[in-house]
Amino acid sequence: MRKILFTAVLMMGLASIAFAGNGQAVYNQFCASCHMANGQGAPGTFPPLAGWVGNFVKQDEGRAVLTHIIAFGVQGKISAKGKTYNNFMPPFAQLSNDQIADLLNFILTTWNKDLLPKGFKPLTAAEVAKYRAKALTAADVAKERNALAAKLGLK
Ligand code: HEC
Repeated sequence: MRKILFTAVLMMGLASIAFAGNGQAVYNQFCASCHMANGQGAPGTFPPLAGWVGNFVKQDEGRAVLTHIIAFGVQGKISAKGKTYNNFMPPFAQLSNDQIADLLNFILTTWNKDLLPKGFKPLTAAEVAKYRAKALTAADVAKERNALAAKLGLK
């Protein structure tokens, strides 16, 4: 009995490490080259993710916008943390719904945890699938992203 309990606790521990670790692994493989290992970006070229994109989920539609940025890319003039960008991020259509959910949960709950609204719920793969069903161009994504930023009063 004790042994079973011990094994169960150990497995739960491993499962939670696998969950948190997966988003980070996806980030390191696909995003860190531009947005840097710590999500700080490169001012004027690659916008920051840390201490910034958590603002987006203060409106529910921000969850869709973040999913769209990853799945469809983003191209157009944006301003992030007071700096202007007019660059192009390619789509990452090869990522699964699970990978996108893990990736966003990692970015939001580690580098943006102070910005998250009360009762923030992690994204699920089913939710990502729903948002991805709407096909957008990278330019469309910049427009919806800018509309959201304006609504939130972000500059
Ligand atoms: C080749 C470089 C590159 C890679 C790799 C990349 N991005 Fe980007 N990302 C950009 C650029 C450039 C922009 C700004 C685009 C613009 O100016 O319209 C951007 C914008 C963003 C934004 C919007 C920030 C804002 O303020 O609206 C998010 C979120 C984002 N990237 C997340 C990611 C994630 C997550 C990954 C990994 C799947 C990733 N990026 C991979 C270059 C990259």
